[in-house]
Formats: sequence, C-alpha cells, structure tokens
Amino acid sequence: MKNLTRRRFNKTLAGTAAAAFASTSLPRIALAQMAKPALLRFPANFLWGCATAAYQVEGAVSEDGRKPSVWDTFSHTPGKTFQGETGDVADDSYHLYKEDVQLLKNLGVSVYRFSISWSRIFPDGTGRPNEKGLAYYQRVIEELLKNNIAPYITLFHWDLPQALPGGWTSRDTSKAFADYAGYVSKQLSDRVSHFFTTNEFECFTDLGYKTGKFAPGLQLPDAQVNQIRHNGVLAHGMGVQAIRANARAGTQIGLAEDATVFAPVMETREHIAAAQRATREENAKFLTAVLEGKYTDGYLEREGANAPKVEAGDMKIIGSPLDFVGLNVYRPEYVRADASPAGYVVEQRPSSFPHMASDWLYVGPEVIYWAIRNVSEIWKPKAVYITENGCSTDDVVTADGRIEDTDRVMYLRNHLTHLHRAAAERYPIKGYFLWSLLDNYEWADGYSKRFGLHYVDFKTQKRTPKLSAEWYREVILRNAVE
Ligand code: FCB
Repeated sequence: MKNLTRRRFNKTLAGTAAAAFASTSLPRIALAQMAKPALLRFPANFLWGCATAAYQVEGAVSEDGRKPSVWDTFSHTPGKTFQGETGDVADDSYHLYKEDVQLLKNLGVSVYRFSISWSRIFPDGTGRPNEKGLAYYQRVIEELLKNNIAPYITLFHWDLPQALPGGWTSRDTSKAFADYAGYVSKQLSDRVSHFFTTNEFECFTDLGYKTGKFAPGLQLPDAQVNQIRHNGVLAHGMGVQAIRANARAGTQIGLAEDATVFAPVMETREHIAAAQRATREENAKFLTAVLEGKYTDGYLEREGANAPKVEAGDMKIIGSPLDFVGLNVYRPEYVRADASPAGYVVEQRPSSFPHMASDWLYVGPEVIYWAIRNVSEIWKPKAVYITENGCSTDDVVTADGRIEDTDRVMYLRNHLTHLHRAAAERYPIKGYFLWSLLDNYEWADGYSKRFGLHYVDFKTQKRTPKLSAEWYREVILRNAVE
C-alpha cells in the first residue's frame, strides 16, 4: 500500500467496486458501458461555433469613415481601463479577417458569431449609411461563406455611436437602433440567416450608467437607470420589428443575453422550482420582460416610484416574438427553496469558491445545463443557442512556443458535458458559440485577460493555437465530448 500513489489507489478501488457490481446486480449491457465509457455524442445537426465582438477584435477605429463609439471615448479616458488600454488596434481583424477565417476553418466550426460596429455603418448613429463600412462586413461574410461557415450577426455589442445625443438615456436611441438594424438586415439577409439584436443588456445599461465600470462610465440615480434599462429592451423589441419588416422572409431573430443563471442547490423538486422562480424574478427587467412582454409585479413593486415610465404599446414591442433565445453563460448562482414570500433564497458564495483568471468568473459547469433547462421550461422558446461560454486563463508560452492551457480545457470539457446533458434531455438547444476565437480586448480589463482559443501576441499580431484549440477541434470532429 505504501508505494501505491493516490491515483493508483483510487483506480484499484474503482476496479474492486466494478468487480463487486459485476458479480451481483448489473445486467450485461450496463457492464459493457461501464467498462468502455462512450463518448457523449451531440445530435447530428448540432452547430459548433466561436464568437467575437467588433470593438474587441477589429481595431482600425478611424478607417473608412468609422467614427467613435462610446467605448473609444471611454477607453481613451484616463483611469477607466487596465493600464489605459484601448481597442484602437485590438486584433487588427479589420485587416486580418482572412487569417481569422482560416483559424475558424481549421477548428472545423460551421458557425461564427461576430458583431457589427454601428458607427462603421452610421458614423453618427443615424443619417446616411457609410458604404465603406458595410463593404467591410460584406467581405467578411463572403470569406466565411467561401469556407462553409455561416455568419451569425450581433447588431449591438456595446459600441454605441458616440454622436447619439444622451446615449441610452434617450428613447430616441432605441429608435435609432431599430433604423440601423432594419438597414443592416435588409442589406445582409440574403446571405445571413441569423441576427442577434443586442448583447447583454446589463453590461451596456447597469455597468455603463449605474456602476460606471463600462462605457460611458456614468453613475446615475435608480429612476434614470430603470429608464435606461427600459430603453435597452425597447431597442431590442423595435429592432426585432425592424428586422422582420426589412429582412428576407424566414430570417431568424433573437438576442444574446447574460441572464443570471440559478442552479438548485440540490436536484429536488422544491429546489428546482425555487431556481425557476428566481430565474423569472431576478431577470425581470431584461429577459423576463422580453419573453413575457411585461414587467413582473415583483419588479414594479421593488422599484416603486423608480420603476420605468412605460408608454402605450411599449411592452408589446418589447415582447415581440422571437425565433430563438441566445444565452451567454459563464457562472452560476445557487438557489434553495425557502418559506419567504419569494419562495427562494440565493446562496452566498463562499470565499473559497473557485474562479478562473477573471475574478468574476466562478466555475460551476452545471450552469450551462440549468441555463438551458430553466429558460426552456419557463418560456418554451422554439430554439436556444449558447451564444457565449468560455474562460480567461493565465496563459504561458513555453520555450518552444506552445500554450498548454489545460485549465481552459478543464473548464470547457466540464461545461460541454453539461451542455450534452441538456441536449440528451431534449431541450431545444441547437448550437454552441465558444468565447472566444482569439485573445482580444476584454473591455475594462484591456488585454490583461485572455479568453481565446488562439494566443495573440499583441505586438506582432501573431496568432498561435493553444492546446484548447486542438481540443475543441477534436470535439467538433467527433461531434462529442469525452
Ligand atoms: C461577455 C461579453 C464578451 C466578453 C465575455 C468575456 O460578458 O459579452 O464581450 O467580454 O463576457
């Protein structure tokens, strides 16, 4: 025993347990499965992809008529981002997009989610479209299609044109978004079948206007923040209607939302029900409003006099029917049932709870299963996509130039296992977009947090596939996770 390593000891124990089972109860077929665990296979038409966003990868911020977005202004304001870093160059994908499409091709993905920089298309937010800006996205789309990769387009991933008066404090911005969404979808829907209106309401409303951690960096009072949130969901709804009116018939429309995900502390009926109550109530201002076309009574009561002012017809617009729901999934909250009026309590996170390189990115791989299950059971969407999932790691380049990001592989393997569970239980999950194709500008964290499958040397723009890229390629090839 003394010389037995802990690993071998465990193996021996497992062997003994299996042998004990073998001689007693399990039928032959179950035994065969135990001896040779099968790969967890995904449905044949499951879509594997990667995601990026314009300001995080494109660079070329003043090229071909693009004017500043709030993120250009914010990142150039001293003290706002890590070491004052900006997206001026980022991954230079504006020029290197062909190389990036080859990275996608080498992975074997069939879909790519990227966003359009609004101020490339309408440099002042409204008015006359800039043909050169649109031409860039046409080139990207052409290159993707040539390589059998379907473009999935996000219309707004936080880079609001700086020129729009008042930004999201103004209802006119929602209308301007709809005009932009209608125009772009009209131009591109002959070759793009899926559009996401907005990405993550909370990040461009609360973080931009309440905590000030993101652009435009304001800290406004609650009543105004609620109105800004309302303008955000209204923009989404108006955008859906504008796309329906302008795009080719059959165009699929949804959004990409980082709804807070509640996992039950235990899989019992009462805790599962509590997690679903929490899902509805804690996402009341965003996803619940969008999928139900109303604000919950609980939200309106909690906000009281600060609740948003809603004009006639707004809620119907906000609740415009969608073809799919996209979920950006990173970390869970844990919920248990209790006897309070709400019927649930959200657990405090112990200080020892593990996280990845970003301090907010707590690791709880079951998050992906509960994200899909809760949303599917509560709102019965026609289709669900995981529009983002991935992690930051402290990558090290070895002497011979490799990046052995075993921690990212660990994160992904575990999340995909839970994604598989959702697919196996027949929730309507259609595809998965890994965040991100390559290291990029991680907003206020600048270039200090690397989320890519490809390592980027930001001095030379050299891209190197990490171990995780190799691993993801294998997942896609087998359409299975091990
Ligand atoms: C999400 C954002 C995305 C990226 C990841 C790490 O919240 O949508 O742009 O920054 O987090």
